[in-house]
Amino acid sequence: MIWLGRAVIGVVFVCGMAALFFWTATSMQLARLDYRPAPEISAATSPEAIARGERLSYIYGCSGCHGVDLQGDFVWEEPGLATVQAANLTRAMAFYDDAELARAIRGGVRHDDRPLWAMPSESWVEVTDAEMSDLLAFLRIHQPAGPPTPVPVLTLRGRWQLLTGQLRLSPAYVAEARANPALDLGPAQADGRHLAVTVCSECHGSNLSGREGFTPDLSRAATYDLAGFTRLMRTGQALDDRDLGLMAVVSRGRFSHMTDAEIASLHAYLVARAEAIP
Ligand code: HEC
Ligand code: HEC
Repeated sequence: MIWLGRAVIGVVFVCGMAALFFWTATSMQLARLDYRPAPEISAATSPEAIARGERLSYIYGCSGCHGVDLQGDFVWEEPGLATVQAANLTRAMAFYDDAELARAIRGGVRHDDRPLWAMPSESWVEVTDAEMSDLLAFLRIHQPAGPPTPVPVLTLRGRWQLLTGQLRLSPAYVAEARANPALDLGPAQADGRHLAVTVCSECHGSNLSGREGFTPDLSRAATYDLAGFTRLMRTGQALDDRDLGLMAVVSRGRFSHMTDAEIASLHAYLVARAEAIP
């Protein structure tokens, strides 16, 4: 009987160690990151800056997820896994200074140094300090309103997916985007490249090569002439009149806020990129 007792103790011990490993390894991913904000960023305050920031918030799609009043809208729900709601920014901002807010947007890090989830910060890693300062100017004019959004909690299954790499947190996507930048074609194409990276990468990938089963490589844009591309950006209409679904929705809601000059430089870069890649 002694061997049976020992076997039971052994099994309990091994299970205990496995549970401890599971909890520690996932908690480490969810824990505070060793990453400090850039201290020099501060929100601009002029009416012009606020207007520029408002336009950026539409082009970047902040209001698409956080709602036009920024009180939180989009909910990502996976039964048994997690429920993550796009935060009520009007309430959340009280916890952030400007540098921390910039870090949340570009780095996917919460004010308490913990990682955010489902916030596509990887799209904005290349947003410049000047653009950020305008965007913050617009965000900061919102007074606290509406119910605060709860911080999301991962279920055990969610923690398992985190451990196995099926679920990743925003800073992991940010690191991946930094490691896979879009092709740099020099100063002449810098403006167009910057727009492609900050506006299109959310769905077409940081290097614009598309996501399998979701979006094509943006070399597809080179099949459009400037007039057709402008129509696509403003109305969502495809060259062959196919229904482009989500692409058409974001064209009308977001990209229609781009100027003609921006659309032209974006098109020029995408055509040059298509010629440069094999
Ligand atoms: C695809 C949807 C989506 C888009 C687009 C998006 N967000 Fe978010 N955002 C989220 C979600 C979901 C969360 C909550 C994540 C969490 O709590 O871990 C979040 C969280 C945040 C937070 C942290 C709030 C807190 O509770 O501490 C800030 C700040 C933020 N977003 C700003 C922005 C800004 C500014 C933009 C536009 C540049 C933007 N977001 C675009 C989905 C989105
Ligand atoms: C919110 C997600 C999203 C964003 C952001 C986005 N796209 Fe798309 N795009 C899509 C999807 C999805 C498709 C595939 C549509 C289909 O074929 O059904 C697509 C397809 C396209 C196509 C191919 C159209 C065709 O004729 O087949 C082009 C060109 C394109 N996108 C350009 C852009 C550009 C330029 C940007 C940035 C200004 C951008 N997209 C940003 C989701 C997005």
